[in-house]
Amino acid sequence: GVKIATIGGGSSYTPELMEGFIKRYDELPIREIWLVDIEAGKEKLDIVGKMAQRMWDASPYDVKVHMTLDREEALKDADFVTTQFRVGLLEARIKDERIPAYYGMLGQETNGAGGMFKAFRTVPIILEIVEDMKRLCPDAWLINFANPSGMVTEAVVRYGKWDKVIGLCNVPVMAQMVEPEMLGKQPDELIYKFAGLNHFHWHKVTDAHGKDVTQDIINKMYEGDETGMPKNIHDIPFPREILEQMQMIPCGYHHYYYQEEETLAHALEEYQTIGTRAQQVKKTETELFELYKDPNLDYKPEQLSQRGGAYYSDAACESIASIYANKNTQLVVSTKNDGAVPDLPADCVVEVSAYIGGQGARNVAFGELPTAERGWLQVMKAMELLTIEAAVTGDYNTALQAFTINPMVRSGKTAQRIMDELFIAHKDHLPNF
Ligand code: NAD
Ligand code: G6P
Ligand code: MN
Repeated sequence: GVKIATIGGGSSYTPELMEGFIKRYDELPIREIWLVDIEAGKEKLDIVGKMAQRMWDASPYDVKVHMTLDREEALKDADFVTTQFRVGLLEARIKDERIPAYYGMLGQETNGAGGMFKAFRTVPIILEIVEDMKRLCPDAWLINFANPSGMVTEAVVRYGKWDKVIGLCNVPVMAQMVEPEMLGKQPDELIYKFAGLNHFHWHKVTDAHGKDVTQDIINKMYEGDETGMPKNIHDIPFPREILEQMQMIPCGYHHYYYQEEETLAHALEEYQTIGTRAQQVKKTETELFELYKDPNLDYKPEQLSQRGGAYYSDAACESIASIYANKNTQLVVSTKNDGAVPDLPADCVVEVSAYIGGQGARNVAFGELPTAERGWLQVMKAMELLTIEAAVTGDYNTALQAFTINPMVRSGKTAQRIMDELFIAHKDHLPNF
């Protein structure tokens, strides 16, 4: 039987993960699941861990859910390690959002100043986990969900020297759910090709006869169809001219870059009324954990779809099942480029369509990107590499370079001031600086 270890097991997404594993039990015979958390997450771990066990008890399968604060015990001989932890909890996310906003800039979970600081906090922990894995489960695969997922995966490969890793996101899953519906097709009638970085990718679609139907989807996007946007992203129409010019479909996070003005205005308005996204999420999470406490609840409640990461298990559990059973399912993953996106170095991590099997990801070649997108991508990857380097070395000057090159950070003395304030606000979680 398979042993799974999940770091950040107290997350409200754990039932989503259980549902995905239960659904795939026949091809992925799990024996035990170890949910790991820290002292601060103990209460959540206890509630959601019991709920997870109830889900298995209601299934035909005999699986034991263990809860522990001892990461080593969980990692020992694990086959798959999944990561869904949040260093500094939602309080840290509020600071990532609030501090840049005081100065009129956007700080988001994975974008702008906030995303860079989430990387500064998360990279040291993922590298500790990788070192533990080298000792305790050297054959295991690491399936990362912790954000910023692309940068965290890059850190694992580049600094952890660990290649058995796959980085995940639910955004491509959601796009591939709604777009076939837009065209009145079944999902298996369309062929997808994604390329770019996590939360910064584009895709093209062809039908079963090889005919490019990207423009047909673009047309539908302006007819008021459901766009498949995660709940945390303000859903406004993209500038149509840009989509028509590049003949690709951007991901939701491109709103921050193609429409920075509108997105910032909307965020600042929300911050003054209903609060930042982290503050909104806190409420949803409280409601979810109230539900999870119900000893009769043994299935994933519908309210979890209010979280931005809905359908995460379709990526996580399917990639694990595909590796385990060598299924060669096509998924969108963060993985080493190896030439799939020739506009970026071969050894960096990209988010692309790939076939997932026993050897990991075999990327689908995308080819060169159009001029504008190539430029964006090269700047964004440089920003990511500088951010990770700063996270590992603790070098202030490298951090300031990352801030300065980030397209969402207006450069200059205010940017440096935001960075300095974030360093103070997060000092407990930045051991390297
Ligand atoms: P959360 O605030 O519920 O945190 C999950 C758990 O991690 C908590 O119980 C917390 O106590 C625990 N934790 C914190 N530090 C830890 C550590 N060092 N070791 C072990 N556990 C630790 O977070 P969430 O909203 O469930 O999100 C979890 C993570 O997943 C975040 O990093 C978030 O950004 C990410 N996420 C990713 C995607 C994606 O598309 N890849 C989507 C949604 C969320
Ligand atoms: C999105 C993304 C995640 C993101 C999250 C936020 O869909 O794919 O990477 O950070 O959901 O969700 P939340 O509900 O926490 O705002
Ligand atoms: Mn994501």
